[in-house]
Amino acid sequence: MSKIKISDTSLRDGHQSLWATRMATPDMIPVLKKLDEIGYHSLEIWGGATFDVCIRYLNEDPWERLREIRRNVTKTRLQMLVRGQSLVGYTHYPDDIAVKFIEKAADNGIDIFRIFDALNDLRNLETCMRTVKAIGKHTQACVVYTISPVHSVQHFVDTALRLQDMGADSICVKDMAGLLAPYISYELIRALKENLDVPIQLHTHYIGGLAIATLLKAAEAGVDIIDTASVPMAFGSSQPPVETIVRALQDTEWDTGLSLHDLFEIAEHFEQIRKHKGFERGVTRITDMKVFEHQVPGGMISNFYSQLEEQKAAHRLDEVLKEIPRVRADLGYAPLVTPTSQLIGNQAVINVLLGERYKMCPGEVKEYVRGCYGKPPAPIDEEVRQKIIGDTPVIDVRPADLLEPMWGKAREAVKAWSESEEDVITYALFPQVALKFFEWRKARSAEDVPQIQSNDEIGPTVVENKASAAPPRVKPPVKPRAVSRGDEDMNIDEIRELMLLLDQSNIADLELQKNDFKIHLRKYAAGVIPAASNPVSAVSNPVFAEPVEEILDESITEVLAPMVGTFYAAPSPDAAPYVKIGDRVEPGQTLCILEAMKLMNEIKTDFAGTIVNILVENAQPVEYGQTLFLIQKD
Ligand code: CO
Repeated sequence: MSKIKISDTSLRDGHQSLWATRMATPDMIPVLKKLDEIGYHSLEIWGGATFDVCIRYLNEDPWERLREIRRNVTKTRLQMLVRGQSLVGYTHYPDDIAVKFIEKAADNGIDIFRIFDALNDLRNLETCMRTVKAIGKHTQACVVYTISPVHSVQHFVDTALRLQDMGADSICVKDMAGLLAPYISYELIRALKENLDVPIQLHTHYIGGLAIATLLKAAEAGVDIIDTASVPMAFGSSQPPVETIVRALQDTEWDTGLSLHDLFEIAEHFEQIRKHKGFERGVTRITDMKVFEHQVPGGMISNFYSQLEEQKAAHRLDEVLKEIPRVRADLGYAPLVTPTSQLIGNQAVINVLLGERYKMCPGEVKEYVRGCYGKPPAPIDEEVRQKIIGDTPVIDVRPADLLEPMWGKAREAVKAWSESEEDVITYALFPQVALKFFEWRKARSAEDVPQIQSNDEIGPTVVENKASAAPPRVKPPVKPRAVSRGDEDMNIDEIRELMLLLDQSNIADLELQKNDFKIHLRKYAAGVIPAASNPVSAVSNPVFAEPVEEILDESITEVLAPMVGTFYAAPSPDAAPYVKIGDRVEPGQTLCILEAMKLMNEIKTDFAGTIVNILVENAQPVEYGQTLFLIQKD
């Protein structure tokens, strides 16, 4: 037994878990030299969501942040989190991008690469691990901890042994949801220490409050390194506080040797940032602690809550939290971590909202079931697989083997902006966001504004979705259309506008639109559409005063939006629409895409018929229950 070493996560997981990753580089700089003096084993400062958030929300170059930190931290090792073949994104990237990414991260200052795969599919770690080894940096490979019938201590030890064989310089037990209980922690760390030669590190989250006890039991079992955060960024869904752990181990054989006095100085700095920016403290709510039931990491719950709110279904959170473990079991007990947490969580939301399980599945869930994210820990339920992808073949090779190299194309695309290889990588990882960022950067340098954006310009933090599973689609601008009577393509808003214009005096000209309009009215009567979106002027109009049920043509069926989202008529902006007016459709045929909760959901018809009308324009937002299509049933 010996002293325990500590990695500080304040500048990565700490603010990612509590502050939606919104700490900016200028908030970090004043405290870097102090952090460097503490005697930490390493500082986790890069990777995870930090890269994406830098370019997407903070208008910061993540590479510049890394260099800035490296300039200030000269003694302590810098560490980053790599999501296996997904690097710092949400999808698998080709090997050429993975290799370049690791090389450039090392060039710019990273010493320790902590690499994990959401499914513990070790093939997804191969390229990154091999590259880190080749450039002589420290390869830390993760065993992602979760609880399921297939995840036994023996399973984790076997996984760790294979990672050691693959060249891991150390092993990290990554417990992203704070599920590791103290006595299991003792058993697991003990087994790993007995079976492996490399150092063992433990990464856990506070959430339900187990973490401090879990770390102490791990210390007794011989863990080499543990992760903590400075107190303003500890507790809640983050790591336990370093100050507590240092004190708890003082004057024992595991004494960390760190100075509480110096740690408090650092904590004061972060506390000022927290107050100034209105960032949250780490707290545990009952829903957070229910992680013991549903395993959903705390940060994700607020995510689901805002998604459900968007869908006007916030009151269904409990149902979603019950559905998540069922979906997880169906899909082979994947640990809930980026990106599987998003896939499983969103599928659960959709199952609850639609009232039928797997009636609709995001493209990403289909890809998961096809094996495009790797091999799930347990087999996928056969019936569920059939429902999601039918007879589409499942791949059994390493997913990245199927990806074309991207470097050449990315370099070409970035040429107009930059010659830097770092920029090419940024583009390869997040194409749309990167271009917007390059544009902003160019404009900024033209204006000659200061190098780093002032914090105050960012404004108060908003806890948004911490991760988006799909890159945002660029929405084409909606062209304003002249409203003319008799225009067969008029939508309901235009009719309303027209009714107001005409002061309802010329209703006869609106006959063409009557059917759409009546359906809208019927839904209004049924309370599906909120009052605000109603053709107010028409409600009292005598022409439409007849009972709405009677005026509907029985053979015409509406296809309604199952969720709030954005309507897309075609799979991509330059592709042909799925259907047009007059088309015949068969059951199961895709009618459109509804982008909701950052995922692309295909809307299908349940019956055969002919498209009579399409009531939404491409790229327009739609409400829950809004009519998208009218189909004349066979
Ligand atoms: Co974490």
